[in-house]
Amino acid sequence: MGQTREISCEGITKVYDGNKTALSSIDFAIPAHGIFAVIGRNGAGKTTLARILSTLLEPTSGKATIDGLDVMADANKLRERMAVVPQEGRTVAWMTPVQTVSAYLLWRGISYKESLKRAGEAVARVGLEDQADRLNRTLSGGMKRKVLVAMVLASDSEFIFLDEPSTGLDPISRQQLWRLLIELGKDRFVLLTTHYLEEAERVADRIGILNNGRLMAIGNMPELRGRLEHQYSLKVPAGLDLQVKVGETVDLENGQLQVLTTQDEALRISKNLIEAKAQFSVNPITLDDIFTYTVGSIDAEVREDKEADEE
Ligand SMILES: Nc1ncnc2c1ncn2[C@@H]1O[C@H](COP(=O)(O)OP(=O)(O)O)[C@@H](O)[C@H]1O
Ligand SMILES: [Mg+2]
Repeated sequence: MGQTREISCEGITKVYDGNKTALSSIDFAIPAHGIFAVIGRNGAGKTTLARILSTLLEPTSGKATIDGLDVMADANKLRERMAVVPQEGRTVAWMTPVQTVSAYLLWRGISYKESLKRAGEAVARVGLEDQADRLNRTLSGGMKRKVLVAMVLASDSEFIFLDEPSTGLDPISRQQLWRLLIELGKDRFVLLTTHYLEEAERVADRIGILNNGRLMAIGNMPELRGRLEHQYSLKVPAGLDLQVKVGETVDLENGQLQVLTTQDEALRISKNLIEAKAQFSVNPITLDDIFTYTVGSIDAEVREDKEADEE
């Protein structure tokens, strides 16, 4: 009987400098295939977790395994099977995309001829065939990020780690990257960290929510939705008398009122709103709603920073 391959953490804790706890006793086990998105605000511990699982950082305590191999004891074996793009990953300015990918493959022990062949293929697959022989420094931010994705793609690794691959990209580049990520995730394990909740919801098979070094929730979207009592969201302009019988209401910043409720109640209120010819929308709750409910708004600290600046 084939055993399911897993990525697991048992009590993974990381304390930096003896006093700065970045991860507190992280426990989970997930299948080692598909896309696992780790979401959370800045400082939540996403990079720390990604670095521990990709063998780049030792945990202070706890045990993590990938396909039964220990990330510390079996690090060398695992490294042959993984590819990592760190958060600060950059392309070398004076190299071309094909040279960049080929150099990476050479470094991984692949022959020169094979490295060039695979580099050309990977660069084309990420949509950079027209830029294949231009210097990286002449590429846009989105194109440079694609070069990094071409590297992991060309390495044909089983386990891929991408720390905030889409941060700073414009919306179009981001959507192109999402398509690539979905491709990558089809026959591999991809750990992706992001603070774009929409991105996690679009591309991930499983999502882990980190906050202050704690894993608050983990699962696929239906599982995460299942954590909430009310799984429908109704949004209406403020000032309407909805007479909500089940659920809770939230004042949104855009002046709308959000009702989190059951499907039946959403339907009942919707009927009244249709009769009253009011504008409204009704949807299953999004990851954004789940995140807000679980740890508060993802933008809260950004707002706090702004307010502090204004003082
Ligand atoms: N090398 C380090 N030394 C000390 N503290 C660190 C170090 N790296 C990260 N931290 C701290 O650990 C916490 C988690 O950081 P990190 O894993 O980078 O979070 P994220 O990637 O979610 O933004 C933060 O409070 C951060 O300041
Ligand atoms: Mg980070």
